[in-house]
Amino acid sequence: MSKAYVHGYNAREGLRLQDQATTLVELLHSDTRYPDGHTVLEAGCGVGAQTVVLARQSPNARITSIDMAASAVAAAAKTVQANGLSNVTVRQADIFDLPFAPESFDHVFVCFVLEHLSRPVDALRTLKSVLKVGGTITVIEGDHGSAYFYPDSAPARRAVQCLVELQARAGGNALIGRSLYPLMREASFSDVRVSPRMVYVDSSRPDLVDGFTKKTFTAMVEGVRDDSIATGLMSEVDFDRGIRDLYRTAESDGVFCYTFFKAVATKEGER
Ligand SMILES: C[S@@+](CC[C@H](N)C(=O)[O-])C[C@H]1O[C@@H](n2cnc3c(N)ncnc32)[C@H](O)[C@@H]1O
Repeated sequence: MSKAYVHGYNAREGLRLQDQATTLVELLHSDTRYPDGHTVLEAGCGVGAQTVVLARQSPNARITSIDMAASAVAAAAKTVQANGLSNVTVRQADIFDLPFAPESFDHVFVCFVLEHLSRPVDALRTLKSVLKVGGTITVIEGDHGSAYFYPDSAPARRAVQCLVELQARAGGNALIGRSLYPLMREASFSDVRVSPRMVYVDSSRPDLVDGFTKKTFTAMVEGVRDDSIATGLMSEVDFDRGIRDLYRTAESDGVFCYTFFKAVATKEGER
């Protein structure tokens, strides 16, 4: 079973995921399109931020979006309805106990989920079991070790490290992006192709300054403030200094860099 979801499910987290999705759509998803009539399982859909993108980009594919959290499923169902999407079914289900027949989907899509699981390879194997032979899996994950910025700041780096540490204690891995290739190979997927997607932000890109540096990355680190202080990973003063320094990178002379990793692979038949 997966462990607690480190970011929580509150309204602010929902908004963060929406901002993240809107800003990064082009970079992460523009090359994900499914043929008419194909079936897609979106595993760990959260509040449905990626669901909207998937459904709009492949209006004639049939998408089933699952999440284990009832609150996420309710939010995703609302998102689907609010966006008038007719090609999406949302239901509550656990990746490790899927309520689908073997080989029932043409494609599987997983975004920002494996980082929260203590057994990512088992999750990939389970998802593979419901994928048809010849079908594809797409996995997108971040890697917080890829965050660097100007001006550099030791407290900011340590605040990011708090998130990495707390996620590890919850059984996850915030540095998982770099290991997508070996994980997918271990799960016996074929033709694994990983492409790094770097987000580069300076003040000439105000949408990314706001949508990524501030509302996605820094908001995510800020989200573990109380736990970081309560567990003694950082003092209140140092943590708040780190957050101030992360916001400082969003000023007119600041720069922020982060790399996501997108893997696409296929399921081959048994030989
Ligand atoms: C960071 S959110 C990502 C949501 C969405 N994919 C997105 O990118 O906006 C991770 C989601 O995975 C879900 N999740 C974690 N473990 C799961 C499991 N074993 N089965 C189904 N969903 C799971 C969580 O409930 C959470 O909603």
